[in-house]
Amino acid sequence: MSEPRNIVVLTGAGISAESGIDTFRDAGGLWEQHRVEDVATPEGFARDPELVQRFYDARREAVQRVSPNPAHEALAKLDAEWEGELLIVTQNVDDLHERAGARRVLHMHGELLSALCARCEARHSWSETLLDQPACPGCGAQALRPDVVWFGEMPYQMERIYAHLRRADLFVSIGTSGAVYPAAGFVRDARELGARTLELNLERSEGSYWFNESRQGRASELVPEWVKEILTPSV
Ligand code: APR
Repeated sequence: MSEPRNIVVLTGAGISAESGIDTFRDAGGLWEQHRVEDVATPEGFARDPELVQRFYDARREAVQRVSPNPAHEALAKLDAEWEGELLIVTQNVDDLHERAGARRVLHMHGELLSALCARCEARHSWSETLLDQPACPGCGAQALRPDVVWFGEMPYQMERIYAHLRRADLFVSIGTSGAVYPAAGFVRDARELGARTLELNLERSEGSYWFNESRQGRASELVPEWVKEILTPSV
């Protein structure tokens, strides 16, 4: 088996769980606390924008109180030392990959620390609240919404993701349940394009069948172990 050169890493909420950020579908997770239809759809936003803004304001505030964990730090080390192609595609809207030092990161579901103007479509770094309807710094309209991809909306940069999947010889999935498409379909596409596929997760995900190898455990242990392995040249 030749050494991998081009790697795509997909991360989900499980990689940030040990930093104190709730996942979505685990016991006590966000989707047990809130109705998806109310807080994560364009229809829910149209129906009750205050409810939605309050939900994301609370998450935006919370993410600024937590820190990256050893799994984020290990991927940042990989990013710094990997000479081949690497893309960390995250479904997460937190900034913990970047705060750990990773640079080759793509947020396919958007970012909490960004606001999107529904009028002029400009994006603005944002760490404050949106509930009080601040004006867009670009066009002045009171039309700022969380820069997060809701159900029924198209994820960001799909072409760039598929360009990397086509060149990948290793696809690694970390801390995701495999419940949400199109991300949940990447493993099958990567496999059919010839890549080796590895899953690092607390439990087997819904797409576990498509992985050549599946390791169960906590991301803070599995990811540093895997990064050490991949950075150690085989003799
Ligand atoms: N280490 C490793 N894996 C973990 C850990 C941990 N410490 N804690 C939880 N997990 C695993 C769970 O076993 C589960 O498989 O992480 C996964 C989290 O799954 P979800 O809560 O479904 O989160 P995710 O897969 O990222 O959700 C995908 O759904 O709600 C939408 O847009 C949202 O991006 C999100 C998408």
